[in-house]
Amino acid sequence: MDFTAAVVAWYKEHGRELPWRGTRDPYLIWISEIILQQTRVAQGLAYFRRFVERFPDVRALAAAEEDEVMRCWQGLGYYSRARNLHAAAREIVERHGGEFPQDYAEVLALKGVGEYTAAAICSFAWGMPRAVVDGNVYRVLARFFGIATPIDTGRGKREFAELAQELLDKREPDVYNQAMMDFGAVQCTPQAPACLVCPLRDGCRALAEGRVAELPAKQGRTEVKPRYFNYLDVHCGGVHLLRRREGKDIWRNLYEFPLVETAEAVDWLVLEQGEAYRRLVAGAGTVAVRRMTEMPRHVLSHRVIYARVYDLEVERFGEGMAGYVQVAEGDEGRYAVPRLVELYWERVAGE
Ligand code: ADE
Repeated sequence: MDFTAAVVAWYKEHGRELPWRGTRDPYLIWISEIILQQTRVAQGLAYFRRFVERFPDVRALAAAEEDEVMRCWQGLGYYSRARNLHAAAREIVERHGGEFPQDYAEVLALKGVGEYTAAAICSFAWGMPRAVVDGNVYRVLARFFGIATPIDTGRGKREFAELAQELLDKREPDVYNQAMMDFGAVQCTPQAPACLVCPLRDGCRALAEGRVAELPAKQGRTEVKPRYFNYLDVHCGGVHLLRRREGKDIWRNLYEFPLVETAEAVDWLVLEQGEAYRRLVAGAGTVAVRRMTEMPRHVLSHRVIYARVYDLEVERFGEGMAGYVQVAEGDEGRYAVPRLVELYWERVAGE
């Protein structure tokens, strides 16, 4: 099942029932979307009910005194939202005869209505194929597709808007848009996403690469440079290999397994085709991959390391392994190793 179909299927089972979802009235949809900017659904619900009871349509809102509109908004914060609503209602009465404009550009031109709100109104009220892009959508797309482009840049905004539009279910744009919002709000949440029970887990790049917590990326954040370590724990008859790390970057003089560092996360099939791996196993005869261990992301002060450890058994230590120390299994305690390597041993000890 593709991304779009999976999100829509999830929504049909788990989507929330909310009062603005049972309607095609653009006025009610507009009010709900403005209330829900910077306000959580749980808090917004009561305000929405009260607001539309007091001002049931555009004309009622336009006819109200600003004071009364503000009183109805009391406690929600960001009061310019209420002032803009009121002004836009008057615009609709004056310019559109009290009928909500049924055209994307005209909706977008209303005071306080940005691209997100215009897309929400046009898709929910009239089924127009306009994808919404809000914080939920950024998060879900950045994670599922593993996109690290910062969302607070022009480039990021364009990239995500294009992708969202491509993925939009053109037959049911309203359902798809609601689905993305709920999926982000309920399933793929900022802090504790429910990856274990996620219907998209098999295709999710962030999950596969251990990057869920760092996506979506923002430029404002201090960059931690990710590195991808593919360790090869090469065994032969109860002996395996370590090497003292040199160079200036990290872990100088500590021992680690033979390492192939890559610019991004790669899987075994890519790794074994690579030059570095081939050089290492030169002359080693047959190689059996006994296990792959994906380590949790390992955070250092200016680096985050994504490590995988492949446990290999070779026929013999070939010429490609000449520069390594041969260590009998059980003797590793004599070597100082990075915490990451220790963690790996702790992890596999019981297996
Ligand atoms: N947040 C913003 N708009 C929303 C909507 N239509 N449904 C649920 N949450 C939302």
